[in-house]
Amino acid sequence: MSPLPQNKFWTFFLLCCILTFTTLLFSYTFTDPPFHFLKYASRISGSFFSKDICACDSCMADLGEDAWLADHFNLSILPLMTRDSSALSEDTYRWWQWLQREENPANYTQVVEELFRIIPEEGVFMDAGPQRCRTCSVVGNSGNLKGSNYGALIDTSDLVIRMNKAPTKGFEKDVGAKTTHHVMYPESAVDLSNTTSLVLVPFKTLDLQWIISALTTGTIRGTYMPVKSWIKANKNKVVVINPRFIKYVYESWLEGRGHYPSTGFLTLMFALHICDEVSVFGFGADQHGNWHHYWEHNQLAGAFRHTGVHDGDYEYNLTLTLADKHKIQMFRGR
Ligand SMILES: *[C@@H]1O[C@H](CO)[C@@H](O)[C@H](O)[C@H]1NC(C)=O
Ligand SMILES: *[C@@H]1O[C@H](CO)[C@@H](O)[C@H](O)[C@H]1NC(C)=O
Ligand SMILES: *[C@@H]1O[C@H](CO)[C@@H](O)[C@H](O)[C@H]1NC(C)=O
Ligand SMILES: *[C@@H]1O[C@H](CO)[C@@H](O)[C@H](O)[C@H]1NC(C)=O
Repeated sequence: MSPLPQNKFWTFFLLCCILTFTTLLFSYTFTDPPFHFLKYASRISGSFFSKDICACDSCMADLGEDAWLADHFNLSILPLMTRDSSALSEDTYRWWQWLQREENPANYTQVVEELFRIIPEEGVFMDAGPQRCRTCSVVGNSGNLKGSNYGALIDTSDLVIRMNKAPTKGFEKDVGAKTTHHVMYPESAVDLSNTTSLVLVPFKTLDLQWIISALTTGTIRGTYMPVKSWIKANKNKVVVINPRFIKYVYESWLEGRGHYPSTGFLTLMFALHICDEVSVFGFGADQHGNWHHYWEHNQLAGAFRHTGVHDGDYEYNLTLTLADKHKIQMFRGR
């Protein structure tokens, strides 16, 4: 019942506090300007100071001291289009219009105006901060998901982002059942459930006109190929990738490789910009080196790797580099 040990404990604790405080104050005042101090502190105490950035163990926006990341990653580029951010510079517009060489495009400004009469305009996802820990699964379509048993793990993420034709029905054990976001363009469109957000990647003005039409009148039936004239999707959850974001990914990340980024790589970059932690599934070849889709039986059917449009090797290399730097976690399947 002696109070002494407790007193000793508190004295010791107080001393520690004073010591820590003065050390920090010293380094703050005398060794580094305030801005550098924060970086310095985050280096020594890692995740503690990361908490200032987000509430996860690791934060996407925490680039540390990595010059490569700082060169490529620009978190102030917003991935989604809003009415305000939809205006494109002459340069960006021309670049974007050249991707699929659309002839006689409609008036972009007018199309965007009409678009936002149909879909909501929210600054969605741009709510990063110390309170947020948003975990995301990006699920590619590789055959390496077959027999992977990743389904349950994929579904634990806050956001599950899939792309193009990806089905879940019948493949739940390996790819999961949850889809919060489905990234597509007119030529790869599929119907969605009411709870899934359709993420349109527009590669031309007609793609914006298509989503308007597919949600309302069904008049557009073809682009450079026949497309779905109607789409089942929740209008209130449709979002559109900003062409400017596509250009940023092409220039800043791909450094001009390929003709333009693939949907897979754009989806990964989308996740990097809206999530705090990103897990990646179904990217790359399977164990036999095949590049097919997980829902295809014929292993050659999806031999799309070298289409001439995308630089798949370079994109995959960047993806691996991000994993090496622990910015994403790669699940390679089998
Ligand atoms: C990031 O993007 C913003 C907005 O376009 C631009 O002003 C800024 O210079 C970019 N930062 C870097 C480091 O490139
Ligand atoms: C497109 O429409 C906007 C607004 O209706 C107009 O100001 C602009 O001049 C048009 N652009 C072209 C290239 O016709
Ligand atoms: C789909 O969700 C919206 C709200 O986002 C709701 O208004 C609508 O009734 C739902 N439709 C169906 C078929 O559940
Ligand atoms: C990516 O490619 C570069 C050379 O182009 C190579 O040095 C590097 O090891 C590759 N990174 C990965 C993760 O494969």
